[in-house]
Amino acid sequence: MTTPVAVIVDAAAYAQAVEDAVKASAAYYAGGTSVLDDDAYDRLVRGIAAWEADHPDEVLPDSPTGKVAGGAAEGDVPHTVAMLSLDNVFSPEEFTAWTASLARRIGHEAERFSVEPKLDGLAIAARYTRGRLTRLITRGDGTAGEDVSHAIGTVEGLPRELVEPVTVEVRGEVLMTTDQFEHANEVRAAHGGQPFANPRNAAAGTLRAKDRAYTVPMTFFGYGLLPLPDTDAALTARLGESAHSALMTQAAELGVNTTARTAVPGVTAETAEQVLARVEEIAALRAELPFGIDGIVIKADLAADQRAAGSGSRAPRWAIAYKLPAVEKITRLLEVEWNVGRTGIIAPRAVLEPVEIDGSTITYATLHNPADITRRDLRLGDHVMVHRAGDVIPRIEAPVAHLRTGDEQAIVFPEVCPRCGAGIDTSEQRWRCENGRNCHLVAALSYAAGRDQLDIEGLGHTRVIQLVEAGLVADLADLFTLTRDQLLDLERMGETSTDNLLTAISAAKGQPLSRVLCALGVRGTGRSMSRRIARYFATMDNIRAADAEAMQRVEGIGTEKAPSIVAELSDLAPLIDKLAAAGVNMTEPGATPQGTAAGDADSGGETAEPMGGPLAGMTVVVTGAMTGALEKLSRNQMNELIERAGGRASSSVSKKTTLVVAGEGAGSKRAKAETLGIRLGTPDEFATLVADFID
Ligand code: IVH
Repeated sequence: MTTPVAVIVDAAAYAQAVEDAVKASAAYYAGGTSVLDDDAYDRLVRGIAAWEADHPDEVLPDSPTGKVAGGAAEGDVPHTVAMLSLDNVFSPEEFTAWTASLARRIGHEAERFSVEPKLDGLAIAARYTRGRLTRLITRGDGTAGEDVSHAIGTVEGLPRELVEPVTVEVRGEVLMTTDQFEHANEVRAAHGGQPFANPRNAAAGTLRAKDRAYTVPMTFFGYGLLPLPDTDAALTARLGESAHSALMTQAAELGVNTTARTAVPGVTAETAEQVLARVEEIAALRAELPFGIDGIVIKADLAADQRAAGSGSRAPRWAIAYKLPAVEKITRLLEVEWNVGRTGIIAPRAVLEPVEIDGSTITYATLHNPADITRRDLRLGDHVMVHRAGDVIPRIEAPVAHLRTGDEQAIVFPEVCPRCGAGIDTSEQRWRCENGRNCHLVAALSYAAGRDQLDIEGLGHTRVIQLVEAGLVADLADLFTLTRDQLLDLERMGETSTDNLLTAISAAKGQPLSRVLCALGVRGTGRSMSRRIARYFATMDNIRAADAEAMQRVEGIGTEKAPSIVAELSDLAPLIDKLAAAGVNMTEPGATPQGTAAGDADSGGETAEPMGGPLAGMTVVVTGAMTGALEKLSRNQMNELIERAGGRASSSVSKKTTLVVAGEGAGSKRAKAETLGIRLGTPDEFATLVADFID
């Protein structure tokens, strides 16, 4: 990805561009919010640089080019060694060209590279005197920074005391994790403050703020370790000779947080190809990280190579930032839509002025629930920071409060269900139509008939609408009493499609309990939870007999979820009875009831008995396209297969994962498995392993 360059046509446009860039970078480093997102800023600075290259005699003294922090930051604490910026590359070709120029400069190929994430926060120097944290200084203009020692104690990962009483400076990035950012904005709102637009701004603003009535935590990741003038000679010499990777190990041993324990630890690589492979891995993991990264930093690892390469006034020549596409853009919030889902949940959705982020045009973003809107003080017409990474649904990070004009309008919450006009149950965070799943019957039935639930072929969305509009179906159970004549009366229903549909409906009666339960659409019980409940209780009667306490024995059901599941099942009693009367199966094949549901009051506290099978005790994640014997299986059917074979299916890779089945096109999950050293298998290998359990 190469960031396009802003086109500057004349000296006046150049002067304006310089002014805009200076303002933007001043806001960026001061923790305010720039009118420009990172991408727009990069484009502008590249445009300025291009114009200056053609007009070297007309460069303005304020120009941000060639300056650390775009010349915006200030401070009065001198750095003992300049805190430099980094040059950027945007593609494998540019990176390879950089390695070649580095090799020319040092007279040979760099011996080894260190590759680590480029953390999206603020650079900080932390001075330790005889092991005690004494001073925190921002990068400033690179030669002197601002003293922000007041933040000592609020930055996780920067201990007040090192493991050894050494005098050193640790350099690294202060940032807010996603959770810390949410928390900071909540605390700020509670104190009547404007929200921060994104975690980076929040970290910048928080770090520089003195005398605030509250403190909010931030996180530090070290990426440099150097001696101070008072450091003893032996340590000074040792640090000067150490490779970057060794310095990072030492920083971690001293008790400083580094990337070592994240999903994207710093690694070393011998060749440009290996570096680029690691860049891909980190990029693939980006969306899942609990903190923002905006690129990958590649450094010549050996001290000798670094010395030979030297540094320019702005950036070292031995390191480079491989920038990743921006995942955040500023756009406007135009409208909020309120959509009713299949269970009657009324979910708000933001309609945005279309904005392109990393190649996709974003028009909608999730808003979770009404409380979320209130908490974040969003208003119609607001400029908002929108975040989109990987396949994750875009989200609004926060309003850009300082861009408000006063014309923004409050977001009006519905007073009645926007679909059916019934009242709204607002007792929980997620609002729900009082008609529940009957409100959007078409959505509820389409879901129930779907491939992963009752799998009724021929009963698509349009057909469901037809049935509901004809008054033939008023609930799920009515599907099972449809007659041939009723169906034949419908438009576009010939004899063949009628018979096929009746056969499919009849076959659906035999689906396992887990799928029937899932089809009911009990809130909080998706596909895998429905399977767990069905396996645990084995029959619908046992499930219905379970109280909240018994329900909690199912893995993944906590004190909050259990009573709501029990209550909803009790509301569904008439429907369940009707389904059973229509001949729908209410048992889970192969499962034996556990726990108290069957009246076994003494067995409290136990969890499901471990099952046998080739995957017993294993947690398996499936990713990428399945092939061979597994080709036709949906992800849900793969998960069912895993559980039939005694394993536990999961959708995300963690340290608890035992096996990742990676088909073609597998991306971030495979990368994470490799990073964590988790066993990987192909679809074919997996098919052999579970051959006895494939239907
Ligand atoms: S090394 C002399 N390593 O990126 C080397 N910087 O755009 C300079 N940054 O000022 C820094 N993650 O604030 C380095 N792993 C990393 C980094 C990193 C983030 C920041 C740092 C720096 C800026 C340059």
